[in-house]
Amino acid sequence: MLENNLWYQNSIFYEVHTRAFSDSNQDGIGDLNGLTQKLDYLKSLGVDCIWLLPIYPSPLKDDGYDISDFYNVHPDLGTLEDFKKLVEETHRRGMRIIADLVVNHTSDQCRWFQEAQSNPDSPYHQYYVWNDTPEKYRGARIIFIDSETSNWTWSEKAGKYYWHRFYACQPDLNYDNPAVREELKSIMRFWLDMGIDGFRADAVPYLFEREGTNCENLPETHAFLKELRRLMDAEYPGRILLAEANQWPRDLRAYFGDGDEFHMAFRFPLMPRMFMAIAKGDSTAIVDNLDQSPEIPANCQWCTFLRNHDELTVEMVTSEERQFLWDFYAPEPRMRLNLGIRRRLAPLLNGDIDKIELLYAILFSLPGAPIIYYGDEIGMGDNIWLNDRDGVRTPMQWSAKANGGFSEKLTGNLYLPVIQEGKFGYPQVNVEAQINDPNSLFNRLRRLITVRKSHPAFSRQEIEILYRDQPEIFAVQFSESGGKIICIHNLSSRVQDIVLPDLQCNLLTQSTNQTKYGIDLPAGKISLEPYAYVWLSHCL
Ligand code: NOJ
Ligand code: CA
Repeated sequence: MLENNLWYQNSIFYEVHTRAFSDSNQDGIGDLNGLTQKLDYLKSLGVDCIWLLPIYPSPLKDDGYDISDFYNVHPDLGTLEDFKKLVEETHRRGMRIIADLVVNHTSDQCRWFQEAQSNPDSPYHQYYVWNDTPEKYRGARIIFIDSETSNWTWSEKAGKYYWHRFYACQPDLNYDNPAVREELKSIMRFWLDMGIDGFRADAVPYLFEREGTNCENLPETHAFLKELRRLMDAEYPGRILLAEANQWPRDLRAYFGDGDEFHMAFRFPLMPRMFMAIAKGDSTAIVDNLDQSPEIPANCQWCTFLRNHDELTVEMVTSEERQFLWDFYAPEPRMRLNLGIRRRLAPLLNGDIDKIELLYAILFSLPGAPIIYYGDEIGMGDNIWLNDRDGVRTPMQWSAKANGGFSEKLTGNLYLPVIQEGKFGYPQVNVEAQINDPNSLFNRLRRLITVRKSHPAFSRQEIEILYRDQPEIFAVQFSESGGKIICIHNLSSRVQDIVLPDLQCNLLTQSTNQTKYGIDLPAGKISLEPYAYVWLSHCL
């Protein structure tokens, strides 16, 4: 194995929905062996670490986030042996792999919950949170507001209400029970012993409930998460915990503790602000957020992202900002879900490849380790007519062949329909075509990844923001041994004239839409095309 225990600080992450990626046995469902066969593709993109969405047995009421057996693989996806092979093959290529750890809840089909409901004396009864009335913990918000009206659901069998922060089919585990805490640790050991490099921990703010609070980010929750970190450090050094906590900056910062809780956390508050900035042609939203972001411990790292498998959440913005984002990016009601927008990156930007490249460049210039959502490296589209968040989870488009090359199943349905019509259909948007086109999104992104990796200083936290009085521009500067790196991005639809600081720089890279005539480094001048960027290095 690769040695560096801080590897995550400068890795390129890639989020895979196994079900959606590649079908190896023609049953219309992507599987672990299918993913293993595509590892060379991920390697060629420059991926360092794969994050797998839940792969466990599940009735799939929340696409696998409703787990019915934490110690196995969903039969649709393969076997534990297939999983081990995937891990080995990933490592053999010098990549890493982390799995989803659903900490907060189980499926109502989980044997634990079945027993808990039917037998109050079963030890499993205490695995869940019960009450005689739905009145307790009224301070907790409802997260899936489009489908749930309460965090309590009546169990006919148990004759009581049970607590759930997500769908009613996802009863919350009772972390006040030491047996639950131990169970979670054995789940972690089970998967870590199979060689995975860590976990993306799901829904971590909600582990404990206390009356009179909003039941999020409680001290008890942080104390238990630190206990999990101690387990990792003691028994599995070099493996990581990545937090999914969709919270305001100060509450989110707490998940790093003093460098003794999570190694990484998704940078939720920054994400919608990148979309705001490009919509307004004004970097203020990004700059303000960076200015207000608390520092994080030296052994930690942000995980930065544009999109993922959920709706684009606009919870952590003001109500005016939310309205702006809805109006701009989700004009049709079907595009909205809960407090978010269920669309993929490319359709959000009207398929404008230059704007997509620009947003990736901004993402890659920011402190943090970037993650790419499967399919967004080729600009896949979405299908807003599908249920829940399925519209952003359609089959990966590999080629112009039947089913987009995802599956050779020729009769009957795939797990979800492939996108075939219009400008995002697989005949137009697919891996095979993009690999052969030097100006494709895939190759633009691959170039950016190569550049970023050739300068490890991109993983640093200390940046200086430049051109603050020119809000159309988002520019950051940071230091490395050979001089400064300066990344300048034009968020607007007009050419921006830039006067460089009094430094001599080399051209590190530039966007595909930037003309070389616009760059006069000896004179310290750049005319930046609309939605273009220029990155400079060795600035002295
Ligand atoms: C966050 C996951 O990303 C989402 O897909 C899921 O529905 C909830 N947590 C509940 O597990
Ligand atoms: Ca299959």
